Amino acid sequence: MVSIPRENAFDSSLAVLKDGFTFIQKRCQRHGSDIFQTRLMFQNTICISGEEAVRLFYDPERFVRKGAIPKPIQKTLLGQRSIMTLDDGQHRRRKEMFMSLMGPTSIQTLMDNMATEWQAAISRWQQRNQVVFFEEVQEILFRGVCAWAGVPLDATEVHRRTRHFAAMVDAFGAVGPRHLRGRWGRQQSESWMQGIIEQVRSGQLTAPDGTPLDTLAVYQEADGQPLPARMAAIELINLIRPTVAISWYITFAALALHEHPDWRKRLQTGNGEELDWFVDEVRRFYPFAPFTGARVRSEFSWKGYLFPKATLVLLDIYGTNHDPRLWEQPDEFRPERFQNWQGNRFRLIPQGGGDYLTGHRCAGEWITIEATKVALRYLTGAMEYNVPEQDFHYSLSRMPTMPKSRFIIRQVQPIATSF
Ligand code: HEM
Repeated sequence: MVSIPRENAFDSSLAVLKDGFTFIQKRCQRHGSDIFQTRLMFQNTICISGEEAVRLFYDPERFVRKGAIPKPIQKTLLGQRSIMTLDDGQHRRRKEMFMSLMGPTSIQTLMDNMATEWQAAISRWQQRNQVVFFEEVQEILFRGVCAWAGVPLDATEVHRRTRHFAAMVDAFGAVGPRHLRGRWGRQQSESWMQGIIEQVRSGQLTAPDGTPLDTLAVYQEADGQPLPARMAAIELINLIRPTVAISWYITFAALALHEHPDWRKRLQTGNGEELDWFVDEVRRFYPFAPFTGARVRSEFSWKGYLFPKATLVLLDIYGTNHDPRLWEQPDEFRPERFQNWQGNRFRLIPQGGGDYLTGHRCAGEWITIEATKVALRYLTGAMEYNVPEQDFHYSLSRMPTMPKSRFIIRQVQPIATSF
């Protein structure tokens, strides 16, 4: 057996907070290896990076998710005992339910809602001197996704509830006040959603047929039992919260348009494929999910390295999306790299890799792509705006990260659209 390069530090948890998105890639470079081991939260952890590592990680025979997600992340970002923690038959059944909501008609309905919200937002912004784009986009997405999900939303609640959902996302790599805000956001949102599920089950509220609310309220486990109301609420939140999270990509997409004005023109005049390349490049280039984790199902060896049973393994998402062996000049924003891209489930992994049904690849990848495209259509074809001087810097230590200014725009003016 070959021994896995080991970090000298007794525990690297603080280094994760310091190096953030670059934690795994930096150490792989230092060890000259796609694999190293360290201690995180006082447990032995193997970190892996690159395409072959992705192929290994998404082999469903090799890993389980049970016990892989740290409690602080379950208590903020993901919810406890949700789909992300399930394995095998139980996971497959739950994932089929999620994927049943991702058909083209369902996604089109969501995109139509988003388009309506973009129109309304542009009219509102026109009345204001300046807007903080990131926060406004969160409200657009939240309104749109609640309407799609069948979740009733009072206009007076939009601002407060959006902040709760955004706080869950903003908490995932945090300690201290940011973590506490995420916990508070989760408690508030779970109670709210649980109440709605209970109202549907008791007949006080009607969930429109086929909506996520309807689907989750009636969903049964393999034993024929409905999900406990809290669990149904958590899974409903697992559709709404990550849709609000697309605001991170949409804000980065707006930044990319600002920094690459030639691409604004190309998107305005192109035949649509440029939009696909641009969105894939936004998802590849900008940091959002740093890594994902699983535990070894039973001992195996890979390239001569031993993976002992139950060891925590982290797959480097950000580093693989910036791997110079896979991407020419990975630290440049170049959408045209996707021009002749045939697609590869193990290379472009901003939302995980492998299969949707047999693995944990993101259920909402198509929604993410389409919602970012809708946003770009509005940004390039339905409004004019100025971008004042501001601090666009984003830190790779902060997880998740965002330009410091949260992208401020001024003097918004609608222009006639043809879509
Ligand atoms: C899982 C990223 C948007 C629903 C995941 C995973 C990642 C991810 C990294 C885990 C992959 C793994 O551990 O193997 C993102 C990013 C998004 C996004 C960066 C956009 C900013 C969405 C949306 C939805 C969604 C819009 C739903 C509407 C899910 C679900 C899972 C998941 C349900 C769990 C899948 C499973 O455990 O089988 N996502 N996601 N995500 N995502 Fe997303």
